[in-house]
Amino acid sequence: MKLSVIGCGYLGAVHAASMAELGHEVVGVDVDAAKIELLATGRTPFFEPGFEELLTTSLGSGRLRFGADLAEAAGCQIHFVCVGTPQKRGEYAADLQYVEAAIESLLGVLQPGELLVGKSTVPVGTAARLSELVVEKVPGAALAWNPEFLREGFAVQDTLHPDRLVYGIPQDETGAAAEALLDEVYAPIVAAGTPKVVTDYATAEMVKTAANSFLAMKISFINAMAELCEATGADVKQLADAIGYDDRIGRKFLNAGLGFGGGCLPKDIRAFMARAGELGADQALTFLREVDNINMRRRIRMVELAREVLDGSLLGKRVAVLGAAFKPESDDIRDSPALNVAAQLQLQGANVVLTDPAAIENCKRQWPQIDYADTAEEAAKGADAVLLLTEWKQFRELDPVAFGRVVRQKRVLDGRNALDRDKWEAAGWSYRALGRRHSS
Ligand code: UGA
Repeated sequence: MKLSVIGCGYLGAVHAASMAELGHEVVGVDVDAAKIELLATGRTPFFEPGFEELLTTSLGSGRLRFGADLAEAAGCQIHFVCVGTPQKRGEYAADLQYVEAAIESLLGVLQPGELLVGKSTVPVGTAARLSELVVEKVPGAALAWNPEFLREGFAVQDTLHPDRLVYGIPQDETGAAAEALLDEVYAPIVAAGTPKVVTDYATAEMVKTAANSFLAMKISFINAMAELCEATGADVKQLADAIGYDDRIGRKFLNAGLGFGGGCLPKDIRAFMARAGELGADQALTFLREVDNINMRRRIRMVELAREVLDGSLLGKRVAVLGAAFKPESDDIRDSPALNVAAQLQLQGANVVLTDPAAIENCKRQWPQIDYADTAEEAAKGADAVLLLTEWKQFRELDPVAFGRVVRQKRVLDGRNALDRDKWEAAGWSYRALGRRHSS
């Protein structure tokens, strides 16, 4: 099939290359000419494991190309809209300007029989409104909403082997054709027996925001338990293990620590609350405000814990921060809890030396006043305390004995509950973590 993908960020670029991998002829379009130039020459504008290899193979096959002009999308049977929906400045609601602009431009190339497919995360009600516009401007064309559940760091795997497919299709006679076209696009995925939910627009839109809200809720739940553990001397990691053995609860997304960040969970729960308010159903989602509050409190608590460990004052203390990305295997620092804590420490008088395997260049642009180091050892030279804030494998696997020779004081704060506590304590480190007992 001939497909276009509008918007080549994490979602779009990976989707475009993955669709070429499935055998389709794909053109990726983005208004950012610099990004297009990179992608077209096989270079990735962001860190994503496995993506560069996929991009190289797809470009090499001749089935994938990129362009900065939307006219390139002309003649494709399906047009995927993968642009961002960030939080509006000063408001909780999602900013739909990029989605609106993409659809508006696509209407100029769209032909009867073609299908527009929205993949961006949008407030419920958006697809129904856009569908009216599409049908009015190009009779015979249709719109489907097909949310994406990929995680950064696993984007390629999640796109090619998703847990489920969700199609929001028109509830009239054009629905069956839309479903058939989507089945054809995802043929190998459908054939692999991937569960498929075919539904209306509103449900499809809500599946996405409900899923992200549930994940955020699960993380904040365990972090609320961590707060209680701190107050009672209980251990949140053991608590998570123990409740996680219950199949109905499950251990995944019960890692207590600094909480969630990134370009999705925080803004999605806020946009969901804003939309519920517009619909007069705000009470249904007031619990998400608490989810957000618990999450934000963890960052403040981490700074306080650092101050406590550093004898009550951050002033002039040398603090090594390991990790800045919002999670490992990513260079994304959007609403990163790690970077937020590092910046607070720096602003409150500590001398922060920050290291991250992938995100340093992004950090330098945002926080030039922080010092950066290439390795954990370099960052920790002469440190009064070491904070692990993003649990990259190379940090989890540090040898506490050798690492202990670099620092001034063997104090480690494990913001992700990711280190082997016994090993670090055996090497003479004082170990502190959110929701865990103090070292004796
Ligand atoms: C999230 C969802 O997991 C994807 O399914 C969804 O498609 C995506 O948003 C999106 O809307 O596009 P992502 O933002 O890549 O994916 O990151 P997650 O793996 O969900 O992690 C989010 C944050 O939660 C990270 O900061 C991570 O460190 C934190 N987290 C995760 C915890 O604090 N504890 C956990 O147990 C798990």
